[in-house]
Amino acid sequence: STALAQGAGRFPFEQIAAQTDGTVHVPGGYDWQVLVRWGDPLFSDAPEFSQETGIPTEGSDRVFGENTDGMELFSIDGREILVANSEYTNNDINLVGSTTAEANSLEEERAPSSADDVLRLQNFQGVTVMEVAEGETGWSVVVDSPYNRRITHNTPMSIDGPAAGHALLQTEDDPTGTQSLGTFNNCGSGRTPWGTYLTCEENFNGYFGATGEMPTDEKIAAGYARYGIAAEGWGYNYHLYDPRFDVSTTPNEPHRAGWIVEIDPSDASSTPVKHTALGRFKHENAAYALAEDNRLVVYMGDDERGEFMYKWVSRAPYEEGGDTSTLLVEGQLFAATFSDDQSGRWVALTPEATGMEAAEIAIFTRTAASEVGATTMDRPEWIAVNPTAPEGYCCLTNNSRRGATDDDGNIVTNEGGDPMEVNAPNPRETNEYGQIVRWRPEGGDHGSEAFEWDLYVMAGNPEVHKDGPYAGSDNINAGNLFNSPDGMQIDTTGLIWIQTDGDDSNEGEFEGMGNNQMLAGDPETGEIRRFLTGPNGSEVTGLTWSSDRRTMFVGIQHPGAPFPDGEGMLPRSAIVTVKRADGEAVG
Ligand code: FEO
Ligand code: CA
Ligand code: CA
Ligand code: CA
Repeated sequence: STALAQGAGRFPFEQIAAQTDGTVHVPGGYDWQVLVRWGDPLFSDAPEFSQETGIPTEGSDRVFGENTDGMELFSIDGREILVANSEYTNNDINLVGSTTAEANSLEEERAPSSADDVLRLQNFQGVTVMEVAEGETGWSVVVDSPYNRRITHNTPMSIDGPAAGHALLQTEDDPTGTQSLGTFNNCGSGRTPWGTYLTCEENFNGYFGATGEMPTDEKIAAGYARYGIAAEGWGYNYHLYDPRFDVSTTPNEPHRAGWIVEIDPSDASSTPVKHTALGRFKHENAAYALAEDNRLVVYMGDDERGEFMYKWVSRAPYEEGGDTSTLLVEGQLFAATFSDDQSGRWVALTPEATGMEAAEIAIFTRTAASEVGATTMDRPEWIAVNPTAPEGYCCLTNNSRRGATDDDGNIVTNEGGDPMEVNAPNPRETNEYGQIVRWRPEGGDHGSEAFEWDLYVMAGNPEVHKDGPYAGSDNINAGNLFNSPDGMQIDTTGLIWIQTDGDDSNEGEFEGMGNNQMLAGDPETGEIRRFLTGPNGSEVTGLTWSSDRRTMFVGIQHPGAPFPDGEGMLPRSAIVTVKRADGEAVG
């Protein structure tokens, strides 16, 4: 088509305009379709979704989960297996059919108000493994595929690495401290070179609360403060109906969340593993690279204001078909420091450097990184590794408190007391727009501890701010305005796909940006073009491809509009497919 011809070259599409409506838009020459929505069946015995009553508790673990986020596709025995995270719940929608929660409907939000409500929410979150297949009318879920599986807040998992078995991980139900139930707040994703899925536990703290006294043990209380575990919780109300989440009686349960969890998508009966060697924090995603000597490198961000970037380097090298069992267990965790001269260093979190024992470095990783002087960042979200050049990218989504001062005139800090002064990679006070930092490891080797860095883009609004830092970097213009970069993947051609989770008011500072969106960036020229827009109220998050690269899978989380089914219907988080009309590869 003409549109494709004109856009030929690095960007095989013409940029689309910002949008403010309730649906998805893609460029001319591309089509999109819904693959799966929250509540759609994975098994033929799943309850049928109802607009009036949603999905009942019975069978709530037999459907696609809520609030789709990170995802990866695996080709297994010639079949396409899509694995997707379900991050959190939208209680007003998810509890629509609950009589107990209905009793609370005078409250602003429908609140979980029974053990049954809590179990329903626990089942809607976690991870979905599902076979998908392309037919004449598009892609669909293969109902009853032997690969289909729901992993929930109650699925048995094992724990390995330096914190496994430690006293801080032991509970009455698991005195060994080596097993736990469930994976929590599954945000971004990752994969390993040996074909397993990594799910990343982010805001796990919100599920815990206290019906009685908060723990007074000094270490535990300090950890709660750093990770934000508080008596009232975040409104899931698990602690009121499921004692495991009541920290007044089970103070170590929160230490069993906040990890990178490995799932084998080829075996629906496999036990997921929590790898404590990769640290405990609010994990966004996990992006791997191989060092020159083939050691496995995993880059990770901790999404909270003023928290840090990390990398893991395995002790042993990866060998295709070889033993991979130690690669996420034995190795070294590092935290990033950035210098004003655009150099940087990964600092090893060792007992010598931190004054902490190995198990406590794993459990209280934020404290260990503070000890070595890691650089406070503007909320590290997804990291992506460029497969066509030795470099990595991290979305620093925003930081409303960067450079702020408290009542005494002191620069505000993160929860660990590390000041959030304006620094080189986070150069703006009250950063509402976000930026993407890029680093190039010394010698082109992801195993190096030294790197050089620059800012790939500073989002901004040159229409509102004629000059200065809030106008954004040179590669921001009236045509590609966005804020709060969050999700990110780099395709096989090196195009950087950037997804946003920001202010979609389209007003004031954000005028001209429209709904949340997905853009593509050229790593060499810096040019960025808008490719897709989401329905209003939604965030665009999660991106992967079919094995033949002809289909892109894109996640639409928490739509505010009645997407995708239209007026009068419940808004439902969904994965959509995007294809080129001419059937060529999309990245
Ligand atoms: Fe779940 Fe930081 O996004
Ligand atoms: Ca995110
Ligand atoms: Ca975000
Ligand atoms: Ca989100």
